[in-house]
Amino acid sequence: MKNKLEKIKQEVVRALQQAIGSAQLDDLKVKYLGRRGEVNKIMKQIASLTEKEKKEIGQLANQIKSDIVAEFSKYKHVANEKTSNSFLDVTLPGEKIESGHLHPITIVRQELEDLFSSLGFMILDGPELESDYYNFEALNIPKHHPARDMQDTFYIDHKNAAGEFDLVLRTHTSPMQVRAMQKYGAPLRCVVPGRVFRNEATDACHEHTLYQLEGLMIDKNISIANLIAVVKEMLSGMFKQEIKTRVRPGYFPFVEPGIEFDMGCLVCHGQKCPSCKHSGWVEMMGAGMVHPNVLKAGGIDPNVYSGFAFGMGIDRLVMMKYGINDIRHFEGGDLRFLQQF
Ligand code: FA5
Repeated sequence: MKNKLEKIKQEVVRALQQAIGSAQLDDLKVKYLGRRGEVNKIMKQIASLTEKEKKEIGQLANQIKSDIVAEFSKYKHVANEKTSNSFLDVTLPGEKIESGHLHPITIVRQELEDLFSSLGFMILDGPELESDYYNFEALNIPKHHPARDMQDTFYIDHKNAAGEFDLVLRTHTSPMQVRAMQKYGAPLRCVVPGRVFRNEATDACHEHTLYQLEGLMIDKNISIANLIAVVKEMLSGMFKQEIKTRVRPGYFPFVEPGIEFDMGCLVCHGQKCPSCKHSGWVEMMGAGMVHPNVLKAGGIDPNVYSGFAFGMGIDRLVMMKYGINDIRHFEGGDLRFLQQF
């Protein structure tokens, strides 16, 4: 019986060395450790032995049984590995790794930055959470001025020492005009791309979260002719063709005179569609000559320097560039839209 027990143990070790897969391992377990397995067969025979033999063989049988259990736990993991890696076809094509890509607004923003860098403009960045002072007051829009209604605003629930709500999600990139003047003085040439927010009823050409590009050029003898030349240069650089534009008078308290630039709608090519509010024209930017009060707020002498400023909607430019008919696609998060870029 002793020999038989030793033999069983050796058999198990050998069988485990050759086992492949958990199924074979389970079969071996049943064969040796199962209720009717080899070890139990011996255990059953112990009952017919003498007391002395019972003690000796019983101890050995228990020892061999726990050795076999230990062997199984040692080999379980090896047998599993053998099955999972049992076949590897190295000629199969690899799994495609999805790579991310830039959002169309980012693509156009980067193109604009390159374009304006080549014209000698600095690229600046400004805070999205802006003070009431820079967003409105420094831009010649005092508190309670009706011009504040032009840009319905998200105020932050935070009061300053005077008990006033003084923080807003910036409604335009124009607050960077005064910030840039204060930091860099004159002469100055800069553009500021960035995200702005408005409490807006959205439609095909209006979003509550949108992107603008502010442009500012201050020097001696700057005129509206410089403004028009720079805007036309930007549009032909962006669209690689002459773009139909029209200029209308516009009111912004921080410029004098103020104008608005429209471009011919490239979604419908003048056929009139929802993207151009059925007019054939898309309003691209507000612009004008920087108001003397704004120059003063920026620490620049309006008797020496003059300048132009514009604020362009990047989203609308992207719509024109790619023929996108609804601005709400940009923030909609629909991958079928985004994967086209
Ligand atoms: C302004 O924001 C002024 N700060 C522009 C400016 C700058 C005037 C410097 C003078 C000097 P306005 O609200 O018109 O102006 O917005 C400028 C442009 O941003 C618009 O022409 C349009 O292209 C875009 N825009 C404005 N509101 C929205 C909106 N809700 N959704 C999409 N684009 C918008």
